[in-house]
Amino acid sequence: MANALTMDTLVSLCKRRGFVFQSSEIYGGLASAWDYGPLGVELKKNIQEFWWKEMTRVHENIVGIDAAIMMHPRVWEASGHVENFTDPLVDCKKCKQRFREDKIPQENAAAKKCPECNGELTDSRKFNLMFKTFMGPVEDGGNLVYLRPETAQGIYVNFKNVVQTSRVKVPFGIAQVGKAFRNEITTKNFIFRTCEFEQLEMQYFVAPGEDDEWFEFWKKARWDYYKKLGVRHSKLRFHQHGPGELAHYAKVAFDIEYEFPMGWQELEGIHNRTDYDLARHSEFSGKDQSYLDEETKKKYIPYVVETSAGLTRTVLAVLSDAYEEQEVEAGDTRVVMHFHPAIAPVKLGVFPLVKKDGLAELAQNIEKDLREDFTTFYDHGGAIGRRYRRQDEVGTPYCITIDYQTKEDNTVTLRYRDSMEQVRVKVAEIPEFIRKADKEYRREE
Ligand code: GAP
Repeated sequence: MANALTMDTLVSLCKRRGFVFQSSEIYGGLASAWDYGPLGVELKKNIQEFWWKEMTRVHENIVGIDAAIMMHPRVWEASGHVENFTDPLVDCKKCKQRFREDKIPQENAAAKKCPECNGELTDSRKFNLMFKTFMGPVEDGGNLVYLRPETAQGIYVNFKNVVQTSRVKVPFGIAQVGKAFRNEITTKNFIFRTCEFEQLEMQYFVAPGEDDEWFEFWKKARWDYYKKLGVRHSKLRFHQHGPGELAHYAKVAFDIEYEFPMGWQELEGIHNRTDYDLARHSEFSGKDQSYLDEETKKKYIPYVVETSAGLTRTVLAVLSDAYEEQEVEAGDTRVVMHFHPAIAPVKLGVFPLVKKDGLAELAQNIEKDLREDFTTFYDHGGAIGRRYRRQDEVGTPYCITIDYQTKEDNTVTLRYRDSMEQVRVKVAEIPEFIRKADKEYRREE
């Protein structure tokens, strides 16, 4: 059946099954803030770990850091965010709504007419997206700090620390996962664009002149990554930034876009940031950020190729991509989430066929042993078919059923989520069987 997924359907599934809840819901909610529930947090963590492995552990020359969210305010002057990290805003004088000038139809912006009520719009003004707060007991300009709008700057200001302590040599990368904050004006579309979100960023430091080549390398590597993550390539495309779109630090930028329920939108940005950030930090801090190549004895400020994905936005892409309403047979449909087994919030459902005759206890013991290897979920409630469907809906790739034959020969029925095929597996061989099945897993385009 065609996948006619709407955002409302996804939001409702996420709430019903404990993936994502509206923040502070009992107080009427806070616009654009969302909480990750028991299944959402597992999914988000699994994606984060998957990215971390792909972007650090499998590379001998990429290391990680975890920098503070609040940094010296001069960082944001040097980075150009104080001056340039702005959206153009207009207000309607009649209905008082506020809009991003670049997000309303061009004819409205040109005629200064409100897209909602045709009232007159104010002149556009620059609105800085950084959240400000004060550190210490006095609320004055001297104590001003910003919540970081990107994690990247925490990497740049630690460039020298990492070079001096990690024996890395250019080309090398520094990766980081963490929260970022932007005072976004347009915050619809669920967890797509929020004021508080998480980024997965990697800054790759290269010799000037080698940046174009490395840019192509990372562009391809990031494209391939989404396939490994189980996202269908037919739902992905590149978008190159035109001159008017480029961020203040970028020479070249490509977005990887995903076809979300509301249309094609950015999922990740790959940027050639040149030596902009390190040069500016050299200038503003007075501390030289150049790198000495010990072999050639050349000293230079490295160029940076950045890969910057949204973690929370990837959760939305993965949820959208996984969803399918499938007609199993005439008149019978199931909702199935086709998560890649590597990131599924629950890996294995464990069910006794019936509760009596010691099957429940046997199933519980088997489940307990398997907890060491996988995230498991034990369920003895209702007909077996309904239990399978409940797990399909949260994307559990495998379920095992313990039945009377288990008592005789120590085997269980293992059911695959996608094909619904069932096979008989020895209890002792379940971990190995699943590891192999994970490796062989392929999502249909
Ligand atoms: N360090 C570069 C940088 O921050 P960006 O294109 O502004 O570049 C990178 O952001 C990624 O962060 C985006 O592709 C998106 O996935 C995510 N992102 C940005 N703003 C976001 C927001 N308000 N809510 C959720 N994710 C966001």
